[in-house]
Amino acid sequence: MLQPVILSGGSGSRLWPLSREQYPKQLLPLTADETPLQITATRLNGLKDVAVAEPIVVTNEEHRFIIAEQLRQIGKASERIVLEPVGRNTAPALQLAAVVAQQEGGDPVLLVMPADHVVSDEAAFCAAIQEGFALAQAGALVTFGVVPDRPETGYGYIRVGQAVSGAASAKQLAAFVEKPNAAKAAEYVASGEFLWNSGIFMMKASVWQAALLALKPLIAKAGLDAVAGAKRDADFIRVDKAIFAACPSDSIDYAVMEKLGEHPELGAAIVVPLDAGWNDVGAWDALWDVSKKDAQGNVTRGDVMLHGSEDSLVFAGSRLVAAVGVKGLVVVETPDAVMVADKAHAQDVKAIVTRLKAEG
Ligand code: GDD
Ligand code: MG
Repeated sequence: MLQPVILSGGSGSRLWPLSREQYPKQLLPLTADETPLQITATRLNGLKDVAVAEPIVVTNEEHRFIIAEQLRQIGKASERIVLEPVGRNTAPALQLAAVVAQQEGGDPVLLVMPADHVVSDEAAFCAAIQEGFALAQAGALVTFGVVPDRPETGYGYIRVGQAVSGAASAKQLAAFVEKPNAAKAAEYVASGEFLWNSGIFMMKASVWQAALLALKPLIAKAGLDAVAGAKRDADFIRVDKAIFAACPSDSIDYAVMEKLGEHPELGAAIVVPLDAGWNDVGAWDALWDVSKKDAQGNVTRGDVMLHGSEDSLVFAGSRLVAAVGVKGLVVVETPDAVMVADKAHAQDVKAIVTRLKAEG
């Protein structure tokens, strides 16, 4: 059995002013009529020969009703929305899901998916998942690697080892480096030996729990106890607040993936290449990249009028937005904020959000 686990904890601050803490990017219809969460939940529909369970979604209190409603809209049962009283990053979030999945009996293969990624080729995605599933069932910890096209420092890097015998494309994971500095990232990309970590992982619930117990026992135990003390109602599993609040914060990448090389006893570390139009849509330039453009390379939404403009993204939320003779701009209008940015500096939008938070 394949158990999708969707992590929906982020706020997508680089997509401000559309993405907000109240309404983060994974819950907004950014590239299509459906939201990234909904698209993520249906991405496995084309998977053949593998039984797929209804997804477990791990999120926070604030987003619970929106998520339940969005799942209902696409016909997904939503009795297993796990609510974190506070964010403790992805390793504790996955531990909660693993414990919930195992409570129901069996030892499913967990497929961990961020709620906010775009994958344009679902058939290629399903083929990679299919390959990973067999390896995970045999006890491996499986990552999915994307060929890098720039020295991005916000990603994890996987050094690819030897081919896994009998597998179609899977390789041994020779090393995992989470968020290297710029010099290292450039060196890795130039070497041709590294793939980006897509942030999608696959392993049996028992394999994850054993690895976490060995490497981060406090997180492993906090997850177990927080689920044991959980309160359940129709859609939601509210984990114990005091126990989870005391859980250390850490990511799957730092807590487990980076350490696997020194701990072969925890399971084979494997990377399955993922060539499926993956994009984590972190910022406005990435959204422009993955969106349909007009003949001049513009992406528009809402009441927008352009004249002599190219390669821009212009979103109008509540009134007419017009642009004349501009190139490579991002203009996003919402009822309470308008943002204009050079597309080449789209990553820096985060600085505005940081300032807004600091200035309250
Ligand atoms: N439920 C829950 N709780 N979800 C969380 C939490 C949390 O506390 N923190 C993060 N998430 C969700 C985010 O919403 C996102 O969907 C996913 O988990 C990954 O977290 P990010 O915070 O976006 O991680 P990252 O982008 O810095 O790095 C990860 O993704 C990269 C690819 O996009 C790493 O796995 C990198 O190695 C990877 O390259
Ligand atoms: Mg991310």
